Amino acid sequence: MTENKPERKPILYSGIQPTGDLNLGTYIGAVHNWLKIQDDYLSIYGIADLHALTVRRNPQEFRKTTWSLFAQYVACGLDPEKSILYFQSHVHQHAELSWILGCYTYIGELQRMTQYKDKSAQHSDNLNIGLLDYPVLMAADILLYQANVVPVGVDQKQHLELTRDIAIRFNNAYGDTFVVPEGNFGSLGDKKICSLQDPTKKMSKSDPNPDSIISIVETPDQIMKKIRRAVTDSEAVVEYREDKPGVSNLLEIFSAMSGRGIDDLVKEYHTAGYKTFKEAVGESIVEKMRPIREEYERLMQDKNHLIDLASQGAERAAYLAEKTLAKVKRKIGLTDLKKK
Ligand code: TRP
Repeated sequence: MTENKPERKPILYSGIQPTGDLNLGTYIGAVHNWLKIQDDYLSIYGIADLHALTVRRNPQEFRKTTWSLFAQYVACGLDPEKSILYFQSHVHQHAELSWILGCYTYIGELQRMTQYKDKSAQHSDNLNIGLLDYPVLMAADILLYQANVVPVGVDQKQHLELTRDIAIRFNNAYGDTFVVPEGNFGSLGDKKICSLQDPTKKMSKSDPNPDSIISIVETPDQIMKKIRRAVTDSEAVVEYREDKPGVSNLLEIFSAMSGRGIDDLVKEYHTAGYKTFKEAVGESIVEKMRPIREEYERLMQDKNHLIDLASQGAERAAYLAEKTLAKVKRKIGLTDLKKK
């Protein structure tokens, strides 16, 4: 009987690439929603530091960026009591399951991945096995936690399909082992914030022009400067229209930051002029981000506290991961050392 079993929340898994800062686009498009659903799911966020190794990195810089990004996510309000936030490399089960799953994945499947094709063209000087194997590690991330939902961008859709294929293949061979995860490509984060310099493109941390991105921990001065420089148009009326991508993007940001409706903002700033409008947009960002930046700075001064948080996250993650890994090992016939 399952009478007394507390209802289990669905599990959400997402991996975070530890490159660059958390930017306003990701905050509004994803993190902001993650905060709202923390009570509905058991949310697990892994900083995918092993994935980041497919590209050569400066070790000191890499370590610093990874801690900084971890602190930024904590500062945003991901609650360590409700959600699990940890570094992938601290939970050895990822690499282990990845090896096993690799033996259930065909080279041809991996070579067909669009991201592999793009990346291998970009990195022809360092065409390492990691680039090809990347989706298998991602499958391990997801399947280890028996995740029900995986919120990702459409660029990861193919990798998620492969994860499902691997899970189904394994389940067919050995009986139910993995939950087959569903991708969520939008509804858990449906706002697309665009580049400040080319508002027809998504705001992306890989954009080489720093003026196109605002990081959530930038100083008020930097934020105001970047908003003043944001590309608009020459019409000088504030309206939300497809042929005004720059102004519309600023309105989206303004609305997300202030919690006010777009119509309401349009009414107030319609003929105020872009200078006044931009000042107000900039200030709304500065105000909303102020407590996050202050918390971030406090956390970065208290490395031991960060280490405690990351250790707790890793411990909780490893507990769940080990349950799955042990099951997998048993199913495929690896020996164990349990005495009878
Ligand atoms: N590959 C993902 C990206 O580039 C990051 C990632 C790693 C991920 N592991 C994951 C996303 C597991 C979702 C689930 O964005």
